[in-house]
Amino acid sequence: MNSTIHLLNQHRTVRRFKSYPLKQDTLEELVLAGQRAATSNFAQAYTLIQVEDPEKRKILAELSGNQRHVEEAPLFLVFVADLERIWKASALQNTIPDTSYTEALILATVDTSLMAQNIMIAAESLGLGGVYVGGIRNQPQVVTSLLHLPAHTYPLFGMCLGFPDEWNDQKPRLPLPLVLKKEVYDRENELPLLQAYDAEIAVY
Ligand SMILES: Cc1cc2nc3c(=O)[nH]c(=O)nc-3n(C[C@H](O)[C@H](O)[C@H](O)COP(=O)(O)O)c2cc1C
Repeated sequence: MNSTIHLLNQHRTVRRFKSYPLKQDTLEELVLAGQRAATSNFAQAYTLIQVEDPEKRKILAELSGNQRHVEEAPLFLVFVADLERIWKASALQNTIPDTSYTEALILATVDTSLMAQNIMIAAESLGLGGVYVGGIRNQPQVVTSLLHLPAHTYPLFGMCLGFPDEWNDQKPRLPLPLVLKKEVYDRENELPLLQAYDAEIAVY
């Protein structure tokens, strides 16, 4: 155990925030730490949109299924999986990339998710908390036009960040034998473990 693992083990999603704003410098430090995540093919296939306009926040909150925190959090970021930059960079080299295959979609999605999780962990290390908002994918076309996203990009999820005003209890995770297996996908004893976990989650 060390302080990094301790921090990871303390994680819980935060959906209620104090109203203190976050300094732009702090956000920039978080994003720089996010950019240090490993990136497939060195593609860095992501762009973040910081949304401050209250009207836009209101629309995004509604689109996400009336998620109040999208409107109220001191900071709201939209994580955009971005293959457009590869097109631009390729044009500079007089080539055209082929991003039409599923692997490109996976690449941009994984890159964006890894950098987002770096940001979440870095934020938690500063005493901040946050929530991912997959709900923005309810209507991706509307989000795309609201944020003027170009071709070859797609909104993956949002993230609210701020100083926590309310802590949830930690949500129990699956038992280790269901998640960590040796050599092959061994399915023995899975059902009793799942049933026990179900009972634990029901109490939660
Ligand atoms: C990609 C992604 C999308 C999510 N979308 C939402 C969301 O739209 N609204 C929400 O309240 N929580 C959302 N969450 C948070 C999960 O509900 C939460 O992480 C999960 O229930 C486990 O709880 P914990 O993070 O407190 O351990 C999302 C999490 C991830 C990773």
